[in-house]
Amino acid sequence: MTLISKPVNRKALFLRACRREPLERVPVWIMRQAGRYLPEYRAIRQKHNFLEVCKTPELAMEVSLQPYRILGVDAVIVFSDILIPAGAMGLPFELTDKGPVIESPLRTAAQVRELSSFDPEQETRFLMQTIRGLVRELGPDVPVLGFAAAPWTLACYMIEGHGKDGFPAAKTMLYSDPELFRNLLERIARATARYLRAQIAAGAAAVQLFDTWVGELTLEQYREFALPATQLLIEELDARETPVILYTKASSHLLTAAAESGATVLSVDWRVNLATVREIVGPGIALQGNVDPCVLLGPERGVRQAAREAVESSGGIGHILNLGHGILQQTPVENARAFVEAGQAAGVSEKVRAEEVG
Ligand code: CP3
Repeated sequence: MTLISKPVNRKALFLRACRREPLERVPVWIMRQAGRYLPEYRAIRQKHNFLEVCKTPELAMEVSLQPYRILGVDAVIVFSDILIPAGAMGLPFELTDKGPVIESPLRTAAQVRELSSFDPEQETRFLMQTIRGLVRELGPDVPVLGFAAAPWTLACYMIEGHGKDGFPAAKTMLYSDPELFRNLLERIARATARYLRAQIAAGAAAVQLFDTWVGELTLEQYREFALPATQLLIEELDARETPVILYTKASSHLLTAAAESGATVLSVDWRVNLATVREIVGPGIALQGNVDPCVLLGPERGVRQAAREAVESSGGIGHILNLGHGILQQTPVENARAFVEAGQAAGVSEKVRAEEVG
């Protein structure tokens, strides 16, 4: 029997994993898989700046497809950035050497009121065109993933204006004007729901919400501010039709609450073993993750072992193998390829067969 070598329908595999249905192997992709660790990406960036790549569908398609061709990943995430909707809502940003910078960050109630709830097919038409182009190019057997920031993480950047340890300006608004802060999160949630619905209409097979900075909140703050906005956003999508993946980083204290978000899949970092995450969240949600991106800076055999161990710790059902955060720029491409290969070979079927035999 050669279950593993038969050509796979990657989209069916991905959707089955999201629904926690039995499958022959786990699907694998990598957060930030299109990026600077790839020489082919750097070659395009030498000729075009970051926003130009995001806003030109032919270029965005090309860089979205690079990891599919080079690594053989099971899902293609559209090339964009979580800050694109901030621009569409009225807060333009630039990407500098130190990361993204918003020219005039949100600090007042008047600015919050002025945020526009944009029409995604108008203001971010380039993204929908890129998704449609990818779906056309890849055909029905490869899932294209859309994404956006979760409300709290986008609010962090909108208020702070750039990435900063602890996001003190965002926390200042939370502590000094909780009503205004809640209002901001709700506006972001509604605008993001429209934005993701447009991505789904364009052909995204699943969407991921990045709540990268949620670990900055206490459990009480998460339940009071970030979770209700995330729930509202997910309710406005139809998660039964199109899976919603919620990524949370440094969130061991929030896992039970995050599992109540309505998301189909909870994506976690490396700090907690997937078997333990499963015990905490119960059987009702699929998991994604969670190898430490730094493992890919070490020797290849360590990379392969970490991929296999992650699949073993989840049992392989209801699991999408990924890193616990975005791939690092210094990562050797061979190690990224080894990660994907080892994950795809860590056959659930082998294990099931071993159990059948023994
Ligand atoms: O996963 C993918 O391949 C799709 C593309 C993608 C990018 N950013 C491209 C990008 C995705 C999903 C993101 C999400 C994103 N962007 C997050 C959430 C996930 C995470 O990694 O924490 C955040 C916090 C951002 C904001 C952002 N964008 C930062 C902090 C930076 C600069 C620092 C960095 O890591 O490069 C960016 C720029 C950015 N976004 C790059 C890429 C490929 C680098 C751009 C370049 O210099 O070419």
